[in-house]
Amino acid sequence: MTHQVRAVVARGKGAPVSLETIIVPDPGPGEALVKIEACGVCHTDLHYREGGINDDFPFLLGHEAAGVVESVGEGVTDVAPGDFVILNWRAVCGQCRACLRGRPWYCFDTHNAKQKMTLTDGTELSPALGIGAFAEKTLVAAGQCTKVDQTASAAAAGLLGCGVMAGIGAAINTGNVGRGDSVAVIGCGGVGAAAIAGSNLAGAAKVIAVDIDDRKLETAKKLGATHTVNSKDADAVEAIRELTGGFGADVVIEAVGRPETYKQAFYARDLAGTVVLVGVPTPEMKLELPLLDVFGRGGALKSSWYGDCLPSRDFPMLIDLYLQGRLDLDAFVTETIALDEVEKAFERMHHGDVLRSVVVL
Ligand code: APR
Ligand code: ZN
Ligand code: ZN
Repeated sequence: MTHQVRAVVARGKGAPVSLETIIVPDPGPGEALVKIEACGVCHTDLHYREGGINDDFPFLLGHEAAGVVESVGEGVTDVAPGDFVILNWRAVCGQCRACLRGRPWYCFDTHNAKQKMTLTDGTELSPALGIGAFAEKTLVAAGQCTKVDQTASAAAAGLLGCGVMAGIGAAINTGNVGRGDSVAVIGCGGVGAAAIAGSNLAGAAKVIAVDIDDRKLETAKKLGATHTVNSKDADAVEAIRELTGGFGADVVIEAVGRPETYKQAFYARDLAGTVVLVGVPTPEMKLELPLLDVFGRGGALKSSWYGDCLPSRDFPMLIDLYLQGRLDLDAFVTETIALDEVEKAFERMHHGDVLRSVVVL
């Protein structure tokens, strides 16, 4: 059997997205069909639409989603129909070199659905990050479904599927922020704001938010920033050093993805401190640093892929903290929109006045 559902499709490079009817197959072995309840609009969706990821148009966009499992294919035992799940793009394989060495959060061979979703004329769709959740229903690998407490709001929970997890994980997993640490976060959009929330969860004593937009600094405060720096008016490195006894922060999280902000992160950390790059650069960007400084300042320069998260470990834990009122995921939901408003949400992204627009179905 197949299902005809409405979905947001990017048909060609730079062209506005359109609402289309797509065909979703019943789940085969190892797959699950999920009825989507909410899906956040992420920069990566826009990158797909602009052809910045690859040329495999048409794309089925959307990947920060939560919903309810409708049916599962043969051999699926971890999730069952009726389960409330967050979709992830790290369904670990258990067999690649990272998994075999006990580091599944780096899994190099993650699973997606094997069957294709199509347009009504049979054209195969490429689901964004192997998910494709701006749709009433989507087909994924069962391992892409992480069951969490069903009392959580879908709009808030879905955000853990990508950007918010990336930010929280940059702090708690990659940066290893610990009790008493000083942390600076450069760039306080959805990802950076989540890094601030994550630093707080981890017990950081000082959390310095840096952005060029005062609106973002206000949200950062709500999520637990103890200090804010508008780096349009002030030198970010100087300001962070001043706020940390002249030394720099133990962990600096770069959540913009640009050489100039990476350099700020590099010089704004204390000796032997850690830099975490979670912002995603573009191919033409280059970084130039004195090698002597790389050596002389010591510490660790790390990248954070998807917050180095392990969905099965991190999603249920973070949802429980959310339900206990210890992690304000609702603060990331700036607006809820309908399925046909994704293009408008892309425009709004440019104005910088949203952390996340979330499609609610
Ligand atoms: N210095 C400080 N902050 C900056 C600078 C700068 N030079 N340039 C931009 N910013 C701020 C913006 O004002 C904004 O608040 O960085 C923030 C970026 O946030 P968003 O555009 O909302 O992006 P977000 O979803 O948080 O993602 C951040 O991580 O996943 C990647 O592709 C994503 O590279 C992007 C980054
Ligand atoms: Zn693996
Ligand atoms: Zn994303």
